[in-house]
Amino acid sequence: KADAFIGRRPDVASMVTVRAPATSANLGSGFDVFGAALEQPADVVRVEKADRTTISVSGVGSQYIPEDPDKNTVGAVAEALDAPAHIEIDKGVRPASGLGSSAASAAAAAVGLNELYDRGLTREELVPIAAEGEAVVSGAAHADNVAPSIMGGFTIARPDGVTAVDASIPLVTCLPEIVVSTRDARGVVPETASIESIVEVVGNAATLSVGMARNDPELVGRGMNDAIVTPARAELITGYEAVKSAAFDAGATGVTISGAGPAIIAACREGDRRTIASAMLDAFASVDVEARAYQTRIGGGTTVFE
Ligand code: HSE
Repeated sequence: KADAFIGRRPDVASMVTVRAPATSANLGSGFDVFGAALEQPADVVRVEKADRTTISVSGVGSQYIPEDPDKNTVGAVAEALDAPAHIEIDKGVRPASGLGSSAASAAAAAVGLNELYDRGLTREELVPIAAEGEAVVSGAAHADNVAPSIMGGFTIARPDGVTAVDASIPLVTCLPEIVVSTRDARGVVPETASIESIVEVVGNAATLSVGMARNDPELVGRGMNDAIVTPARAELITGYEAVKSAAFDAGATGVTISGAGPAIIAACREGDRRTIASAMLDAFASVDVEARAYQTRIGGGTTVFE
């Protein structure tokens, strides 16, 4: 009988705390496919075994996040894992930012509940479960934010699996005080594209992927260009063109919308982040938009606190 416990911890904890990072999806040329884990900001989520799932939310923008398990990303994750728990979410990532706010909570819940209930799923197996949670708020199950938040690095998320690459590209993400919902941002995505623009995007996406594998900010930045989705969405972000030009003038190697926006992400060479962040903030200020900038880089995925 004792053999049944080999490889299992008899003292499985009744409470687990995890940190899941913000992420940037799309990276321009990889709409609904590419994503990158950011070193900061992050959500911290604590899960405790319970008979039924309850949720409490604190932190940045918590007043906008429903605590009803049927309307919150983490409720769907608990349901999918058959893992009822009291789930405390401390938001470090503002909702509707373009920095994978709901995905960070879903990723944290998936990893935390998997640990709490000793479900034994791999990180890659947790990605579609967390993506189902995402569908509760965005209307569609994309894995391009949850994959990097769970697995870390740069990720290529497709229905048949996730390819993850370690990278450490310096980044600035600049978040204006504008709200763009993912639903609205998806509403402006063109339904068709010319073969010329598709050829261009394929070239850029391939360049970006190689740039990540080589950890080369020049190639990553060059590969961020996108002539299909980004121009349509840029219209929803006051000051987008001014901020993009300012970031390039300050030395950014590439600039695009982070996820569905309104955050804007710039790829940088080592040592340039402070200047680029300051230029982006000045450009938003010049069009009377308040903003905050994170000097960050591509980092690791969800971590479980011991
Ligand atoms: N790929 C998604 C989009 C990310 O751009 O709409 C936000 O869920």
